[in-house]
Amino acid sequence: MSVVVTGATGQLGGHVIEGLLARVPAGQVTAVVRDREKAAALAAQGVRLHVGDYDTPATFAGAFAPGDRVLLVSGSEVGKDRVAQHRAVIEAAAAAGVALLAYTSAPGSLTAALADDHRATEHVLLGAGVPYTLLRNNWYHEVITGNLAPVLAHGAVVQAAGDGRIASASRADYAAAAVAVLTGDGHENRTYELNGDTAWSYAEYAAELSHQTGREIVYRNVTPDAYRDILIGAGLPEMFATILAGVDVSVAKGELAGTGDDLSRLIGRPTTPLADAVTAALKG
Ligand SMILES: NC(=O)c1ccc[n+]([C@@H]2O[C@H](COP(=O)([O-])OP(=O)(O)OC[C@H]3O[C@@H](n4cnc5c(N)ncnc54)[C@H](OP(=O)(O)O)[C@@H]3O)[C@@H](O)[C@H]2O)c1
Repeated sequence: MSVVVTGATGQLGGHVIEGLLARVPAGQVTAVVRDREKAAALAAQGVRLHVGDYDTPATFAGAFAPGDRVLLVSGSEVGKDRVAQHRAVIEAAAAAGVALLAYTSAPGSLTAALADDHRATEHVLLGAGVPYTLLRNNWYHEVITGNLAPVLAHGAVVQAAGDGRIASASRADYAAAAVAVLTGDGHENRTYELNGDTAWSYAEYAAELSHQTGREIVYRNVTPDAYRDILIGAGLPEMFATILAGVDVSVAKGELAGTGDDLSRLIGRPTTPLADAVTAALKG
């Protein structure tokens, strides 16, 4: 029996492996990676490696064994058929007879196009006949604070989200929830809406930035079309800019305002405040 984590050389996956190693002997943890060299540090800790690529289903032969508990980290490549990618992993895991397959999904309330792949993957997973857990992660703080350079350069947070609120949490929080599910009992066939404890608006985010930098940083709300054009002007591919503008429309409608305490209950502590992520990002 192994706990198997895909996307293990990614940022969320890295936190998950770290959390697992605090609870499970390294020899019982398998990291599915695309690049063995990128995973050298994991191998050095005694973690087993399996090389697999979502685009090549055959690479998942032998990745899973009966009774394994598996975390499928959703793919990250825009423009790829992520549903087909995820289906390859789900089918291999189901065929092997794993005990649990947890999937990092999107909030159930999210109607933006970004959620389409996640809803379709959930459908595949629920039809696969394998015990599942849906980890419907809200936004990562770090996705927000990872965009500080233009904000600081212009003294403005530019979005199209109105006064909508986002119940984000840190990657480490979501990873801790995944670890709790992978190592705990009673999570079969459950759907968790994982939200940060405190939802915030972009006006409040700008105020926090002002507070921590000592400079005035304002929130400038623009139309979704204007926001999309700004993103394209900044060099984002058109398709990605359209997706992000769609997310802001959803935020404005309150679709990421998330309530409920699934995340803090699973991790057994309050979620990380956005202010902490701002502090970390400002330190660079
Ligand atoms: N909730 C949010 O705010 C939010 C924000 C961003 C992303 N996400 C979603 O959450 C996932 C995890 O986030 P993250 O921050 O950890 O992203 P990340 O650092 O980009 O990690 C993504 C992981 O997926 C792996 N991967 C991508 N394509 C693959 C393929 N074809 N075959 C096998 N592995 C593949 C990557 O492998 P390599 O290490 O080889 O590149 C990487 O390990 C993302 O992939 C995305 O679906 C959520």
